[in-house]
Amino acid sequence: MKLKAIILAAGEGTRMKSKLPKVLHKVCGQTMLQHVIDAAKKSGIEECIVVIGHEAEKIKRSLSSEIKTVFQEKQLGTGHAVMMAYDSIKEDTILVLCGDGPLITEETLKDMLDYHKKGDFKATVLTADLPDPEGYGRIIRDTEGRLQKIVEEKDATEEERSIREINSGIYCFDGGTLKDALPKLRNNNSQGEYYLTDILPVIRDMGFGTGVYKTRDYEEIMAVNSREQLAEVEAIMRKRIAKKHMKDGVTIINPEHTYIEKTVTIGVDTTIYAGAILTGDTAIGEDCIIGQNSRIENSVIGNGVEVQSSTIISSSVGDSTTIGPYAYLRPNSNVGKHVKIGGFVEVKNSKIDDYSRASHLSYIGDADVGRNVNIGCGVVFVNYDGKDKNRSIIEDNVFVGSNVNLVAPVVIGKDGYIACGSTITSGVPSGALAIARARQENKEGWVDKKGLSRE
Ligand code: UD1
Ligand code: CA
Repeated sequence: MKLKAIILAAGEGTRMKSKLPKVLHKVCGQTMLQHVIDAAKKSGIEECIVVIGHEAEKIKRSLSSEIKTVFQEKQLGTGHAVMMAYDSIKEDTILVLCGDGPLITEETLKDMLDYHKKGDFKATVLTADLPDPEGYGRIIRDTEGRLQKIVEEKDATEEERSIREINSGIYCFDGGTLKDALPKLRNNNSQGEYYLTDILPVIRDMGFGTGVYKTRDYEEIMAVNSREQLAEVEAIMRKRIAKKHMKDGVTIINPEHTYIEKTVTIGVDTTIYAGAILTGDTAIGEDCIIGQNSRIENSVIGNGVEVQSSTIISSSVGDSTTIGPYAYLRPNSNVGKHVKIGGFVEVKNSKIDDYSRASHLSYIGDADVGRNVNIGCGVVFVNYDGKDKNRSIIEDNVFVGSNVNLVAPVVIGKDGYIACGSTITSGVPSGALAIARARQENKEGWVDKKGLSRE
């Protein structure tokens, strides 16, 4: 006997008004469907079966290969969708989830599975009281409080609509019973669909117990049917992620205006300011300051790093380094410890070793910069000749004066100096001073002679 999940994701989601199938819309950087799969897996599910239909190929491509999919050609309802997985259902415990409910947590799923097992139910539905139940199926209980049926809003009477307890669209079933009950579903409702909700009275009429597991955290079962709900769910998940980091010792100055994806790790005593966007496989160390409007994507940041209003993509930054304001680290920039990358400095595909400084207005592209190197203001690594990108090497302790062009490929030997304003086109030996600019000439009395005095 296995624990399996059937995740319904074949619908189009018309109310999203999107070219993208609904379940592929992202919440905090990850598709809604993937959030649901993650929660199911963490709750102990051994096999996930996703029911796909609308834009099936796109959805399949978004999934890892171990996820099984079944195809529902026509979206004839949630009950019909589960029928598509009929052959995968054995004497298992089956958890049914909707791909459009990304806030569900493993804890709630585990609690529900426990409740299902302990109550010896053949079917259990997860419910919650919603402040605004509009759009959801309502839970109708009998006088003893047991589940009688679930009524869709479209099929509900005025009185039924006033019920605030709603169906989450999450259920668990005894596999054998589910198989026996599925063929008994009918589509005699306002939508002409096979509703999965109708299976609960069917199972009860077969003489089995059905359970209702009501969760207190109604936010967990919110589903996304529109862009407005997508934003609501995004805000809840963002808050949830921020809360977890704060609990772990991170200061987040303004959580509502900070965007952190689930995949990001942050060390203790780091402070995150408003407008920070931290995404992908990003790991930030301890005691860092991530300043306002900084964007860090798929990058590793050491301890004690300060990033001010800067963008860092697929790069690494060593301990005690400062970045910005307004610096741009493009992919594959590996910056060492105690480095300063100052205002309006762009770095791409380069290594910058410990204690080096590029304080102002430089472009460092395709370079290996050694230790304790000074890159003056306005230095440009001229890495592109119109055809190829070329690499430059700047060895340890080199001093590059302001407004220098380093035309790649070029090697500047250890301890060398480059005079400001130079355009360097060939290598500089170790310990040498290179000056590559026209000598200054002063023409005495030239202004008067030309009658150009501006007084
Ligand atoms: C469904 C429930 C409702 C519940 C709500 C919770 C039914 C009849 N209604 O309504 O009681 O309160 O979810 O969010 O079950 N899907 C398929 N194939 C289909 C139809 C739907 O795979 O033929 C998938 C959709 O892609 C979606 C999920 O099932 O991921 C739910 O479908 P949706 O149309 O959003 O159902 P609701 O009307 O919201
Ligand atoms: Ca829905």
